[in-house]
Amino acid sequence: MKRSIRAFAVTFTIALLVDIAHAQQPTPEERAYKFRTSLFQTFAWKLGQMAQAKGQDDEATFIKHAKDLVYLSGLIEEGFTIADSLPEGSKAKPEIWQDYAKFQKKVTNMAEVTNDFTKANAMAGFKPREFGSKACGSCHRDFKFKD
Ligand code: HEC
Repeated sequence: MKRSIRAFAVTFTIALLVDIAHAQQPTPEERAYKFRTSLFQTFAWKLGQMAQAKGQDDEATFIKHAKDLVYLSGLIEEGFTIADSLPEGSKAKPEIWQDYAKFQKKVTNMAEVTNDFTKANAMAGFKPREFGSKACGSCHRDFKFKD
């Protein structure tokens, strides 16, 4: 009798743990949201690194971070492959999937604006706010809800 109670308790506990593990599995939409959120946070970091390198008059480092940012812009679309992936907390607008061609243009725009700063002697003309507005804000204004 005692034994079967213990067996039941063990089975019950395992079943409960399995349930919890399943409940904590993020959905594909949540994974996509996490991916793009960490990508965008990396963008902000890179923008900061570019500003810092300019402050230190370090063109080689500035160009390195600008090149990284061009590369990273090529990953944006990977975060939006699931249509209408708008889990709780997302600031993305549904318009992304309603006018995907326009969204892609904003991605290309960011790559082009950033690419200009991978060239020699471009650092002098870098103004973080202006860059942020042209490269990032141009997409945010249409496709991201304000914080
Ligand atoms: C092509 C569109 C696009 C471009 C270009 C873009 N973003 Fe975003 N960004 C978004 C969208 C959409 C979201 C909201 C994503 C969500 O919450 O699901 C976002 C969210 C963010 C967030 C919030 C992340 C968080 O923690 O929730 C930051 C920070 C950010 N972007 C920074 C940048 C910076 C810096 C740049 C430029 C270097 C940039 N973004 C360029 C579309 C873009």
